Amino acid sequence: MDQCDALNGTPSKRTKLDVNGKYPDNAAKSAEGVYVRELIFQEEHTILDEVAQISEEGKTESDAKILGGDPSCLYLRELARPNVLKLKPYRCARDDYDSGILLDANENSVGSCIPQPDPLHLNRYPDPYMLSIKKLICKIRPIRHEQIFLGVGSDEAIDLSIRIFCKPGIDKILVTPPTYGMYMVCANINDVGVITVPLSPEFDVRIPETLAAVDETTKLLFLCSPGNPTSKLIPNEVVREIFQGGYRGIVVVDEAYVDFSPPEKSALNLLDEFPRLVVLRTFSKAFGLAGIRLGMAVGHPDVIRLMNNCKYPYNISKLTEDLAIRALSDTSIFEANLSLLLQERERVVGILKSLPMVKKVHDSDANFILFQIDFAYQIYKHMAENGCVIRYRGMELFCEGCLRATVGTPKENDTMLQKLQETYNLFLNDSISAK
Ligand SMILES: Cc1ncc(COP(=O)(O)O)c(C=O)c1O
Repeated sequence: MDQCDALNGTPSKRTKLDVNGKYPDNAAKSAEGVYVRELIFQEEHTILDEVAQISEEGKTESDAKILGGDPSCLYLRELARPNVLKLKPYRCARDDYDSGILLDANENSVGSCIPQPDPLHLNRYPDPYMLSIKKLICKIRPIRHEQIFLGVGSDEAIDLSIRIFCKPGIDKILVTPPTYGMYMVCANINDVGVITVPLSPEFDVRIPETLAAVDETTKLLFLCSPGNPTSKLIPNEVVREIFQGGYRGIVVVDEAYVDFSPPEKSALNLLDEFPRLVVLRTFSKAFGLAGIRLGMAVGHPDVIRLMNNCKYPYNISKLTEDLAIRALSDTSIFEANLSLLLQERERVVGILKSLPMVKKVHDSDANFILFQIDFAYQIYKHMAENGCVIRYRGMELFCEGCLRATVGTPKENDTMLQKLQETYNLFLNDSISAK
């Protein structure tokens, strides 16, 4: 990429300038919707300008509504880092023109170096906004494309949200252990503090304790639903109670595993109610596409705009785009695989529950099963060294003696269950003979 491409002031073909070379007043409402609005912002305003427009000093949320502005902008002014609000984002060559003789982005015009043909034209940069993928997602989920940020896995969205909302050394995130480790890792990398409010021993969010722990510096509250490693869904009512209980920051609900639960359980259904809700989804689990690295954040268009402004310009590759389009164009394989995994989940849970050596099996809303067994660490290690890798989770809060097994194919599950029993017996006999 040529840095000179940034803010080079070239007229945007997609924003369709009028005869006087101005953006039409209704540009935001054109067929290309918010995408057009995004470009206008990148050229003419920062998000802070819009915030200032609708929320002059002292204006309240209801004033903003009366003024016809979107009150979520007020939250953004309070919540996002000022440098991010002020940011004039990098403009890609492809933001302006994307057809004809393309000598604008210093690509290799002769072609890619892979054996031809190269139907994806990999010598060219991809679409920075991946509208093709977003439109297909909107066909299968109750959301609009301007509510979607696409990232390199949902991990990118976790890191970006922290960088957008948390001032290093000042702001904090709140997590509810036991939970996915990357929230804390990303916070640590960004020098952002972490408040922990443990779940209850039954893996439920403790709402009063959570609300008592936040203050104005707690910019992000991460909930993992279904939880990793808990495998338990967090009901939408919990999210509602957190907002209604007075929390003023952003609630991020990480739904990496929610496709293994009924669709009505998803927090996507709350997005119209709460502009400060961000829902994370991924193609790595139920879609079976962990290898293409594609995840998304779904939220209010203003929050999504900040994420798009801060991402690397061409974060999603054409290879990923191609595969995501194939997966989304025909979801029959997704559905068949999902149904097999759900069937297997029930079968494996049933068998584990019937094994006398298994002390507790947690009900699962995800594609993995958390269970408690004696000799958990030794069993994990011995099984892994003998060709069957599950995960030891015994160091996590309220997971003492727990192993976590991903639901595999029927054959893999049979092998895992057989090895689990054999290995347990091995350690049981060892411990008996040691006495
Ligand atoms: C709860 C949770 N969130 C996010 C991720 C990361 O997903 P991705 O592959 O989309 O980065 C994982 C991965 O295991 C996860 O367990």
